[in-house]
Order: sequence, then C-alpha cells, then structure tokens
Amino acid sequence: MGITSPIFKVLMLNIMIIFSFTTTSVYGNNFNAVFERTFGDHRVNTYGQDSQGLSLSLDKYSGSGFRSKKEYLFGRFDMQLKLVSGDSAGTVTTLYLSSNQKTGTHDEIDFEFLGNVSGQPYTLHTNVFSQGQGGREQQFHLWFLVDETPLRVFRNHEDIGVPFPKNQPMKMYSSLWNADDWATQGGLVKTDWSKAPFTAYYRNFNIDSNAPNAATLSTNGKKTRGAWRTRDLNAWGRRRLRWVQKYFMIYDYCADSKRFTQGVPAECKRSRF
Ligand SMILES: *[C@@H]1O[C@H](CO)[C@@H](O)[C@H](O)[C@H]1NC(C)=O
Repeated sequence: MGITSPIFKVLMLNIMIIFSFTTTSVYGNNFNAVFERTFGDHRVNTYGQDSQGLSLSLDKYSGSGFRSKKEYLFGRFDMQLKLVSGDSAGTVTTLYLSSNQKTGTHDEIDFEFLGNVSGQPYTLHTNVFSQGQGGREQQFHLWFLVDETPLRVFRNHEDIGVPFPKNQPMKMYSSLWNADDWATQGGLVKTDWSKAPFTAYYRNFNIDSNAPNAATLSTNGKKTRGAWRTRDLNAWGRRRLRWVQKYFMIYDYCADSKRFTQGVPAECKRSRF
C-alpha cells in the first residue's frame, strides 16, 4: 500500500477556528461513519480495519471526492494526507470546508495541492470566502511535513466591515481531480495519463468541533479541547507563520497591487497575526 512508499508526504492539516460547548459525542475514526462519497464511484475506497484509511483516485474518465455527513461551525480538523507521488502534474488534491454553495453567500476555507512533475515542489493554494466573497489567495511551496505549523490565518475584522465566516455551518470536503488547464505552471504542464490512476491517501482524521445547535463532537472520542471560539496562535505559532510567509509564500493577494488597482482589500491593511 502506498502509505509506506519512500516518497512519504504527510500533511497534517489543522484548520483551527473556534467555539465552545462541553458534551462530547464519539464516532470513532471510521471514514464510512463520518464521510460519504460525493463523486467518482469505485475511485473512492476505504481500507484497513474499521475503514481507518481512505484513498481517492483519478483516471482519464473521472476524479473522485468525499465530504463529511455532518456540518460544523468552529473547530479543529486534522487529516493526514499522502499526496499523489511521482509525476503529479496537472492533478489537484483538495481539502476544504464549505457551507451550502447554493446560497450565493457561502463561506469556504480552501486548501488545494497543485501537483508537479517529479522532484518539483507542490504548490499549496489557499483561499477564504466569507459571505460569498473570495479572492483572498495565498500560495506556498511545500516542504514535506506541515504538521503543527500554521500556514494561513484569517482574522476577524468585522469592525472594519470585512465579513467573517462564523455563522454558516460547513461540511468538510476532499477531492482529487484533473485541472491540467491551469494547475501546473499555469497549465503549461499537462497530466501524463500513462501514469494513471493517480492516488491520494487519507488517514488519522479527527474532527473536534461543534455541530450547529448541538454539542461538541470529537470523532476520535478524545476529550474535546472546547473553547474553540477564543483560541489564538501563541508566540511559537506566530513565529512559525512569519517563517512560512518569509521563505515559502509565493503569492499573497495582499501584495498584489497590479490586481487591486483601487487598493488592496481592507483586511490587508491590518496586521494579520
Ligand atoms: C512546480 O515546479 C516549478 C519549478 O520548480 C515551480 O516554479 C512551480 O511553482 C511548481 N508548482 C506548480 C504547481 O507548478
């Protein structure tokens, strides 16, 4: 199984946003219990004892994806993700939180991993939508372990009129698909279908969160950390974030004055951590 492959990219994605309640509901670490397929038929597979691993694959005909059955408002979402190894050019692996997109004013927090040719870095593309408004991209070149290092912070600046994604419950989504029209070096490098199927692996997820109108959930049954609404980066986290921004950030919407000819968005004028 690919999990033990030498090119072992683990990305522990910790999306931290916050709220507080006290009761804990236990669901276990079983993908089938917590998630459901969104597309891709047999390309979504769970494996291992109690379905503790999941794989998505992409071939010429289709990609694949899954999402949580429940919705969450604030919390911490952990997932270990092994991206497509080797030549992954043209592929995009996503992990994101989104409220109902049909409202036209949805909230969304995006992590998209843009594949690359062998030996070249993945690009992590991030974005934040609040009340339908996105356009807040930051991109990073990835090193191997992301783990507890914070990559992106979006602060609440409602006091200066910037909507904050805090009212609309979200599901957690993931997908693997082909985007060789733009993903790798702006679409120059195409997917090499002779390498298909492309596969991404998932394991050790935990969602420690409150569902709307309900108690705090922790899918692994550990006592919930709670108090999500008031959590913040500590001094170590702020230092790590500065380090990431200094050495790995390759695009920041706040620095793109060509794009925002009328001035960058309001939140860019505030310190972001
Ligand atoms: C792929 O590698 C090239 C060369 O190092 C780099 O410029 C590019 O940003 C990388 N990522 C993507 C998604 O193309």
